[in-house]
Amino acid sequence: MKPARIALLTSGGDAPGMNAAIRAVVRTAAFHGIPVSGVMDGFDGLVKAHFIELGPRDVRNIIQRGGTMLRSARSEAFRTVEGRARAAANLKQAGIDALICIGGGGTQSGAHQLVTEQGVRLIGIASTIDNDLGGSDRTIGFDTACNTALEAIDRLRDTASSYGRIFFVEVMGRDTGFIAMHTGIAAGAEYVMVPERREHVDGLVRVLENRSKGKGSSIVVVAEGDQEGGAFKLAEVVKARCPQFDIRVSVLGHLQRGGNPTVTDRVMASRLGAAAVDGLIRGEDHRVVGIVNGKVCFTPHAEAIAAKKTIEPDLFRLLPMLAI
Ligand code: F6P
Repeated sequence: MKPARIALLTSGGDAPGMNAAIRAVVRTAAFHGIPVSGVMDGFDGLVKAHFIELGPRDVRNIIQRGGTMLRSARSEAFRTVEGRARAAANLKQAGIDALICIGGGGTQSGAHQLVTEQGVRLIGIASTIDNDLGGSDRTIGFDTACNTALEAIDRLRDTASSYGRIFFVEVMGRDTGFIAMHTGIAAGAEYVMVPERREHVDGLVRVLENRSKGKGSSIVVVAEGDQEGGAFKLAEVVKARCPQFDIRVSVLGHLQRGGNPTVTDRVMASRLGAAAVDGLIRGEDHRVVGIVNGKVCFTPHAEAIAAKKTIEPDLFRLLPMLAI
């Protein structure tokens, strides 16, 4: 079962900790005497056979870096059957008999197609700042993104309380509100808007009105995919109803994707990178590797992609209670 050669790619939105996972894959493979080809630019590099040799020294000094040394890209060619067939043929020609794909939902869907359609042997590693992939309680990058957003919100709180202002802070999360809810709880936000739940603006206005009576400042954390259309729109609606409010908006954007990974992300990435290689040697295939209840766990791709991960329900109760 030991692969003759492993290829490794990162795809989709980069996430802090991807480099730590790359390092762990390369060094674990080297430990077992398996050569590794890095694929540049995600699936696009697979279609174009853009491979580089990766030895233990090629991944030195990257565990602490955000982004991905293998880069990421969109690939129109990979969306076609012909493109995917070329990708599989390129792997074969390079003597590669197993592929490791580091990324989130989109990446693992592409990986799933490579297995079912082209018969590629493959393991996925759960990595996206959005934490919206099944098969892992947390995905690589989520913790760092939350901490980055939190630091920014803490700073905004300083200036908000100096003026008695209300800040609408938009964080990433196109389809899910994990970052919004977790940073909201951690920052002591007064309100959080997430895509998963339609919150009534009435409720938000009520909270802000009550709070403006005795509180120095208010923070509303808004996930970019919230159903009202983002922080600017929401702030406009609230301002129209409550012109007396002194409101400012801050969109944190891509700064949440970069930066040095936290301890949590580095350790998780190291565990998952090593587990992916160990798993391939044991004969695991067509699985996403993640951490569930503290343990490394292999989940079938179809299951991991289809899983609808939900924000911990108690957080929805906690937030208004703690912001009273
Ligand atoms: O990585 C996921 C994500 O952060 C989403 O929350 C966000 O909508 C998206 O990436 C933006 O990515 P890009 O600008 O690369 O398309």
